[in-house]
Amino acid sequence: MRKMMAGTGWKMNNSVAETLRYAETLAAWSAGRDLSALDLFVLPPFTSLHAARTALSNTPVAIGGQNMHWDASGGWTGEISAAMLCEAGCRYVELAHSERLQHFGETYAAVRKKLDTAMHAGLTPILCLGETAPEKAAGRADAVLEAQVLTALAGQGAKHIPDVVLAYEPRWAIGGAEAATPDYIAERHGRLRETLHAHYGKAAAARTRILYGGSVTPENGPAILAVEDVDGLFVGRAAWQAEGFIRIIEVVADAARTRRPQG
Ligand code: 13P
Repeated sequence: MRKMMAGTGWKMNNSVAETLRYAETLAAWSAGRDLSALDLFVLPPFTSLHAARTALSNTPVAIGGQNMHWDASGGWTGEISAAMLCEAGCRYVELAHSERLQHFGETYAAVRKKLDTAMHAGLTPILCLGETAPEKAAGRADAVLEAQVLTALAGQGAKHIPDVVLAYEPRWAIGGAEAATPDYIAERHGRLRETLHAHYGKAAAARTRILYGGSVTPENGPAILAVEDVDGLFVGRAAWQAEGFIRIIEVVADAARTRRPQG
């Protein structure tokens, strides 16, 4: 059974004061609710991790970093280590977000090293995968996704694969006007699961969660979650305010209630 997820990456948004307001709203809403069917996470900027951790400590909402270095320490100005994220109370770390690839020259070869470090530190990597618009137009989406996932997971044993959360985020849909269609998402998620099956076996493929991200809203969320291979939503803009994230959580909670057992 794959536990469904709802999460948000704040990118470069939400000051400490805004984080406290966000977390307090979320904590008040979640108090007394049974959200145990879901894994929930927010990924604040590094400067807001401590505030988020403190304000969310009595809630089921976990926190994570938006990036991480592969080395344990040293001369890496501007970077942050896995141990630092753990100390700040992180359970997750996002790796390979398309904005890191596009604007900061990150590669999946580097992501592979980061993922390995994160796993050893006990962090759950949220590994982003996605094709660009030209790659989509050339009919290369599945080949691109396969190369990304196999590069990032290289060296990991099959039994550790379900400890990674995959996030299919088509690069052309992030920050855009429209999400990918449910049919398109179903094909990509299905092919990704086949890739996991071929390389890591049936159990790993059945147990690994694959989220969808890219222009998700509370309105389009239900149709995306109706896709059997979609195990949750990873949201940017629509969840940068607590009220928006709460609506997303409600959408995922509804889907989790009606979904038949998988994995
Ligand atoms: P948007 O939901 O704003 O398109 O961003 C998605 C995203 O980048 C999640 O990682």
